[in-house]
Amino acid sequence: MRVYPAMKSFILSSLLLLPLATAKSVLEVRDGQTATPITFPAAPTDTGIKQVPDVDHPFIAPGPDDQRGPCPGMNTLANHGFIPRNGIATFEEITLAQVEAFNLDINFGAFLVAANMLMRGNPFVNKISIGGVSPLVPPLPYGIGSNVTGGLAKHGGFEGDGSITRADVHIGDNVNFQNILYDHDLLFLGKFGDDGPEGNNTVLNLATITAIKQYNIQSNQLADPEFHFTPTRLVAAFNEISFLLNLFANGTTNQASLSTLGSFLRNQTFPPNWNRAPAPVLSKITSTANQVRTAVASNIPLFAGHNDENGNFVPDAPPPAPFNSSITCAFYYDLFAQMPAGLANTTGVFKENVDLLSSLVFAVVGNPGCDVQLAPFGPADN
Ligand SMILES: *[C@@H]1O[C@H](CO)[C@@H](O)[C@H](O)[C@H]1NC(C)=O
Ligand SMILES: *[C@@H]1O[C@H](CO)[C@@H](O)[C@H](O)[C@H]1NC(C)=O
Ligand SMILES: *[C@@H]1O[C@H](CO)[C@@H](O)[C@H](O)[C@H]1NC(C)=O
Ligand SMILES: *[C@@H]1O[C@H](CO)[C@@H](O)[C@H](O)[C@H]1NC(C)=O
Ligand SMILES: *[C@@H]1O[C@H](CO)[C@@H](O)[C@H](O)[C@H]1NC(C)=O
Ligand SMILES: *[C@@H]1O[C@H](CO)[C@@H](O)[C@H](O)[C@H]1NC(C)=O
Repeated sequence: MRVYPAMKSFILSSLLLLPLATAKSVLEVRDGQTATPITFPAAPTDTGIKQVPDVDHPFIAPGPDDQRGPCPGMNTLANHGFIPRNGIATFEEITLAQVEAFNLDINFGAFLVAANMLMRGNPFVNKISIGGVSPLVPPLPYGIGSNVTGGLAKHGGFEGDGSITRADVHIGDNVNFQNILYDHDLLFLGKFGDDGPEGNNTVLNLATITAIKQYNIQSNQLADPEFHFTPTRLVAAFNEISFLLNLFANGTTNQASLSTLGSFLRNQTFPPNWNRAPAPVLSKITSTANQVRTAVASNIPLFAGHNDENGNFVPDAPPPAPFNSSITCAFYYDLFAQMPAGLANTTGVFKENVDLLSSLVFAVVGNPGCDVQLAPFGPADN
């Protein structure tokens, strides 16, 4: 029998712990991995405006082995060491970093990390990659997931079509910043943006993000034969773009200016003299997202759908009742459809972790109308 290093440490710690151990404190080891309990971290007590980053979080460009991915906010947190600079982090680390650096509401932030951990991470060891596959995030134990753990860069989940800075996966690079897409974003800023200290038409507003989002969806639907705007993207694409207005804006002026956008999106670093939002951000995200979605939907066909073989954008089959009652419920259903079903059939710490993360998603997304709580029910590889 091969003795894995983790098994050795299991044997060792079992011996050391034995006199004190209760049944529960014995380490759970499986496939060379040690179960790591996930906890909901205490919210910081300072919830006001402050300059970010502090001296303890300087920008350091990522090294060749550091994971970076499709989310500029995550990449920025890693480039400043708010989460580990290698881009591999725990639920608690990402949840707290989002609060500390962006003043994101802790429950909303926890929901984002929880959903991603269940779809794209390893909730047995409590690790997720903000980029691609990493040896530091092993595949799920018990053979219940894919043979590699994808990370945020894996297509599907939140990563999907119609992004403002990344190409659709079937026609380009879905992970790294794309100049051509950002150039188009700035054309719309130059046309619709508000006037500000950096010049006329340099401040992001609803009209600009509506135009950008409409352009991304329309042009990708035409260019990508496999374009798929999933129920998850129908919500996430609009939440993401509302982050620019509500989380990336300078907290002092409430303005996301040309240089601030360039700093976060292109350079993936905090702008100089930038302040986080003056209070925890929650309702502004969903209200902006809803406004922009409604505005785009009044101009182009917009629903959860995909291109058929003739390139026509057609609706996906709706989810079963009650999850067909709203786009939020369809989103909730779609998230759990992308989590390996084996996660729902676990025991011990693994089960406690999956249950905690599932309940955090339900708390934020399972609004009235879809008040049936789901467990992961998707394919092993998705
Ligand atoms: C995972 O499985 C795929 C096929 O399903 C295979 O191509 C790939 O080499 C496997 N990767 C590893 C790390 O085992
Ligand atoms: C901004 O617009 C105003 C009014 O249209 C104009 O008077 C002003 O010259 C413009 N400023 C710049 C820097 O272009
Ligand atoms: C991005 O980084 C480059 C290189 O350091 C710098 O010249 C440029 O001003 C930065 N852009 C923004 C918008 O911060
Ligand atoms: C944020 O606003 C303050 C107050 O106007 C200003 O001093 C600072 O330069 C601004 N920072 C950025 C990145 O715009
Ligand atoms: C949801 O599906 C059920 C069962 O097919 C159907 O009766 C109901 O009308 C649907 N609701 C909506 C809002 O489409
Ligand atoms: C649940 O897990 C057990 C033990 O790993 C396995 O034997 C069983 O087949 C699983 N059941 C389902 C429904 O996946």
